[in-house]
Amino acid sequence: MIDVDVERGLIARRIFSDPEIYATELDRIFGRSWLFLAHETQIPAAGDYVTCRMGETPVIVTRDASDRIRALINSCRHRGNAVTRNDAGNARTFTCPYHGWCYDLQGKRVESGALVGLPGLKSYYDDTLALESWGLVPVAQVATYHGLIFGTFDPKAPPLEEFLGDFRWFIDMVLDRGDFAAVPGVARWRMKCNWKFAADNAIGDNSHAQVAHRSAFIAMERKLGAHRATVGVQEPGFTILTDYGHGANCKSAYFAERADPTAVRKPFTRIDPVFEKWRENDAVLDVLGPLRSQIVRYNGNVFPNLFMIDQLLMMRNPLGPGETEIRAVALYDRSAAPEIQTLQKRRAFQKFGPSGLLEQEDGENWDQATAGSRIRELQDAALNYEMGIGTGRIIRDELTPPRIETMINEHAQLWFYQAWAEALEAADWSTLRERHAQPAGTM
Ligand code: FES
Ligand SMILES: [Fe+2]
Repeated sequence: MIDVDVERGLIARRIFSDPEIYATELDRIFGRSWLFLAHETQIPAAGDYVTCRMGETPVIVTRDASDRIRALINSCRHRGNAVTRNDAGNARTFTCPYHGWCYDLQGKRVESGALVGLPGLKSYYDDTLALESWGLVPVAQVATYHGLIFGTFDPKAPPLEEFLGDFRWFIDMVLDRGDFAAVPGVARWRMKCNWKFAADNAIGDNSHAQVAHRSAFIAMERKLGAHRATVGVQEPGFTILTDYGHGANCKSAYFAERADPTAVRKPFTRIDPVFEKWRENDAVLDVLGPLRSQIVRYNGNVFPNLFMIDQLLMMRNPLGPGETEIRAVALYDRSAAPEIQTLQKRRAFQKFGPSGLLEQEDGENWDQATAGSRIRELQDAALNYEMGIGTGRIIRDELTPPRIETMINEHAQLWFYQAWAEALEAADWSTLRERHAQPAGTM
């Protein structure tokens, strides 16, 4: 683990630019991890589909006639062309636009993705082409947790629930507070950055927010009533770390108020109106309990690259060491009052997404950081992830997954890089299952 020094909080620049490291990431991380594909409500009916990526690989996610969700690699078996270039739609079949090979999507008659016909089957091929051998290649495993569809290329990957492990506590906290459905449409854009700068920001970079997003926060405070904290001040909250590199920050007064009931009222007097409704809702309290129902802001990353914030699910897929494609699914709460639903839909992409104020600022910084990782003269000058190092006591109790009781730190980022290094080193899933680090002790 020369490139990742968790004890000292040092990360080598080259991991963000080296083509060989990138190739190993595609093999050992994107080729093996469970990766988020779509939200179930994006494909409610038979034949509905969305396209996405698993790492660089283009994938079609569809629901077949037997209600089974399938993921198929979007590449024709004839010359490799994409069989669809759409982001989403409904189809019975896909006919490749190059020579017309036709694949069944619904899987009623045959397995979905099966080749069911092509022009000239009789006249050019003498009816000898074995259609059953030339279907679209399926993704090895597909599974769903809480409406989130994941897939993995590795048939030996452990079950999705084991991979998500204790992080389900966080996913439940986000999704159990309402009856969520995807806002129609697909938002997709690209940045000139390494995917890991996006992931390490997702899992726990709260110190950047008050600097990089200062002007956006001033505007949002006026428009949305969002709270704006002071630069350099620790916020009440905690950081959770779970097996296989998942992690999150949760802004909450719960632990701070237990320690000192008068200390932390101020940052919680004005919060987001959407979260305020949930905080006042007894049904949410019943489902989530006193700790999770009062979390007023969160950011998390499902390893390797699913960012969860507000009601957004954002997949950051690499297209080379210096380019990332992002696809965002925005959710809204169907059980909320109509005006709150409208508010959620309207503001889905105000902060993040191609038109998001925060996205512009993050993206610009990640692009610059990626360029910085390539500077020849600085290849031995490691990047600094020392914030809070040596003070992050990991608490294991029944209240949360393993946690550290600060919100602003670089512990979760180091946790991500440790898992990244372990995944890169492990020859296969069984090695990774046995040898991966457990959150314990002090970071
Ligand atoms: S590449 Fe698809 S039919 Fe030829
Ligand atoms: Fe940001």
